[in-house]
Amino acid sequence: MKPVKVGILGLGTVGSGTFNVLKRNQKEIRGRAGRGIEVAMVADRDVERARKIVGGDCEVVSDGNLVVNNPDIDIVVELIGGYDVAKDFVLKAIANGKHVVTANKALLALHGNEIFQAAQEKKVIVAFEAAVAGGIPIIKALREGLTANRIEWIAGIINGTTNFILSEMREKGLDFDTVLKEAQALGYAEADPTFDIEGYDAAHKVTIMSALAFGIPVQFNKAHVEGINKLNAIDIKYAEQLGYRIKLLGITKRMPDGIELRVHPTLIPAKRLIANVEGAMNAVLVNSDAVGATLYYGKGAGSEPTASAVIADLVDIARLESVNPEHRVPPLAFQPDAMKNTPVLPM
Ligand code: NDP
Ligand code: HSE
Repeated sequence: MKPVKVGILGLGTVGSGTFNVLKRNQKEIRGRAGRGIEVAMVADRDVERARKIVGGDCEVVSDGNLVVNNPDIDIVVELIGGYDVAKDFVLKAIANGKHVVTANKALLALHGNEIFQAAQEKKVIVAFEAAVAGGIPIIKALREGLTANRIEWIAGIINGTTNFILSEMREKGLDFDTVLKEAQALGYAEADPTFDIEGYDAAHKVTIMSALAFGIPVQFNKAHVEGINKLNAIDIKYAEQLGYRIKLLGITKRMPDGIELRVHPTLIPAKRLIANVEGAMNAVLVNSDAVGATLYYGKGAGSEPTASAVIADLVDIARLESVNPEHRVPPLAFQPDAMKNTPVLPM
């Protein structure tokens, strides 16, 4: 079978990790996908830096349009982040009949309904495992592993940067700004770190999980969002003295009259498992009717952990490509019609 050809938009933290892991593990990945997965073209604003990463292995351009309009490319991987340019590229790729993989939770939380509608019409796949909880396969768990269940609620530490900040402040007594700089240097933080600190990144992710778990459209604008920006070192210290840890949680819950969707700092008894999730690790607890509680834990941010999720989507698509699109149930999409009138409750 001929290899599937991939074009990557953005060769930063996640893009370079994706390129490197694909190359390093190409034999295993080919075996699992049933065919090769080849990066044919990369677009990045900094062409010189990108060339240093890819060597002579593929073409490097500065204009993403050359990727989304390239007839040889089967899958576009969007890893530039942000809303407008990313949305434009993703919609153009879909219009050109290409599958899309994205790690861009901000884009999906705001424009997911439009993007999935467009994908459904063109019978292409939009996959987004990396958009929630980095390397943890939580999207697969919600979509596939728990598919027999009625999900009741999800609660999780889903922002690595803020968990890293809270951990380092508590364990080492470091100040907020120093730890934030470290999180940025380690590639955990968003390009604009206020998204992490003010809780918006976690809200993007819980919005996506809520849509998947409850079959509602994405409704980020209805989420209640509070970050860690109003916390002080003394809050963390007092919580510790009382036997608690402060964690930034994303929570979504089925209620009799609608869905709760919220992000806020939460006091958790120190003996609980989730209170002991430290550093940039993430943990997501899902409560559903048949299996009960399940917990998913792992690296929630960073170059190769996130690349792991991006490549899992590439392998899924490489396998699904051979299925007649008419018969392909889109397992990677939201279900925009399923519960479209279920309200997200005001908090
Ligand atoms: P980076 O900023 O490290 O990488 C983005 C790259 O895209 C940069 O090289 C940037 O160039 C380039 N770029 C930006 N705009 C364009 C454009 N119009 N055309 C071509 N290239 C462009 O971001 P990350 O890799 O950290 O994040 C990428 C996406 O993955 C984001 O949506 C993020 O939210 C998501 N994500 C990130 C995780 C992480 O741990 N970092 C984890 C999970 C998801 P320049 O530097 O010049 O701006
Ligand atoms: N900035 C995000 C975080 C990256 O810290 O969790 C992973 O989505």
